[in-house]
Amino acid sequence: MRDGIMDFAIRPMRVEDLSQVAEIERQAFPTTWPPTPFRRELGNNLARYLVAWSPSAKGVPPSLRGDEQSTSDSWFQRLTDSVLSLFGAAPERLEPETHGLVVGYVATWFVLDEAHIISIAVRESLRRLGLGELLMMAAVELSMARRAQRVTLEARVSNLAAHALYEKYGFARVGLRKRYYSDNNEDALIMTADGILSPAYQAKFQALVEAYHQRRGHAMRILA
Ligand SMILES: CC(C)(COP(=O)(O)OP(=O)(O)OC[C@H]1O[C@@H](n2cnc3c(N)ncnc32)[C@H](O)[C@@H]1OP(=O)(O)O)[C@@H](O)C(=O)NCCC(=O)NCCS
Repeated sequence: MRDGIMDFAIRPMRVEDLSQVAEIERQAFPTTWPPTPFRRELGNNLARYLVAWSPSAKGVPPSLRGDEQSTSDSWFQRLTDSVLSLFGAAPERLEPETHGLVVGYVATWFVLDEAHIISIAVRESLRRLGLGELLMMAAVELSMARRAQRVTLEARVSNLAAHALYEKYGFARVGLRKRYYSDNNEDALIMTADGILSPAYQAKFQALVEAYHQRRGHAMRILA
């Protein structure tokens, strides 16, 4: 990454990523309970889970890794894991040093001609480095490859960072779901990028991809 600190790439999520993905979910969506059953979701034919990762965590300062190495063996973590294991959902605990550092993920569901981005998140310590944009780019490319006509998602009305990212990629505000989030009864903004296969959207998207490569360097994206 030109503007970043190391090389990142996109690839499908794997079982060995799950402990790191769970950490990122806890950082990004602290009120989500129960945690997303990512292991089960990997077998969901309607869904595709991608991660942004760096093949090696070596050389990345712990402060930037932002992982929970020091607390991963805490009594609370062990308790959570044993509760989850009752449901067959306990994450595998593997070290980033040997399996690469997962820095973000995006989950997309495909139904008929629509792609629905269910979740997108980046490690807290590595935000504003272009990783959310890289994940968004990959989710849109995947949606185009699957011949979806539109990509839609919900975002908290207060989540201005997410709105800015989505607007950059041509998502328009198309509606509101009142009191969608049960933790604080916050409304959800529905945002949609329509006609993603149209020449106009394709041209806009290509320009964004080129600008991204100029600014951040080329990031490999393996979508399937
Ligand atoms: C939303 C999120 C994924 C963005 O990831 P990120 O890696 O920080 O974003 P990037 O650095 O790739 O930024 C891409 C674009 O998003 C927008 N953006 C991101 N963070 C922003 C912020 N704090 N304020 C304003 N705009 C922001 C900008 O348009 C930016 O483009 P620019 O670099 O040309 O200004 C990240 O903030 C996150 O994980 N948040 C917690 C989880 C979450 O809220 N997910 C969305 C649920 S709907």
